Amino acid sequence: MTTFDFSTYNHSINVGIFSIGLTTEMFDNMGDFNLKEMVTGFFLHDIGKCSISSRILNKNSALSPTEWKIIKKHPEEGCKILKSNYALTEEAEIIVSQHHEHYNGEGYPKGLQGDNIHIFAKICQIADVFDGLTSFRPYRRKYTSFSALTIMKKEMYRDFDPEFFSMFVKLFLKQ
Ligand SMILES: [Fe+2]
Ligand SMILES: [Fe+2]
Repeated sequence: MTTFDFSTYNHSINVGIFSIGLTTEMFDNMGDFNLKEMVTGFFLHDIGKCSISSRILNKNSALSPTEWKIIKKHPEEGCKILKSNYALTEEAEIIVSQHHEHYNGEGYPKGLQGDNIHIFAKICQIADVFDGLTSFRPYRRKYTSFSALTIMKKEMYRDFDPEFFSMFVKLFLKQ
């Protein structure tokens, strides 16, 4: 990924770090799940983008419906890549396949809603959107953390589990 697309690599690191922050804030005890495997899922949530041409990935104008269709395959492609590298643990599969599902059911690929979305994927989705907003895009400036959280709260709140989102905001209030 580092050689394929450096901005996706940067994004992956940031999402991994924010996701670990939110996970450790929310759960003292992970039960049967393995934090190490979850971390792999967080850091590699967008590995499927390596199968998309960088012309589409870095396009600075609106994507065509066909291009969107290709973008929306990256969760499935990511699982395939991990599987072929013997790295598709249960934790990684959940995160990679569900990280674009939205709480209101309007995400992809399956349109899962509410608690049908796994807690790990809810965490990754919030970190993913936050890093997207706070990163530079060819078509807009990057937002500050405060502006990004405000946009998420005012314009995108239906996309997130409210409890998870308020815990995420609390991460930024810590000294
Ligand atoms: Fe993604
Ligand atoms: Fe992402």
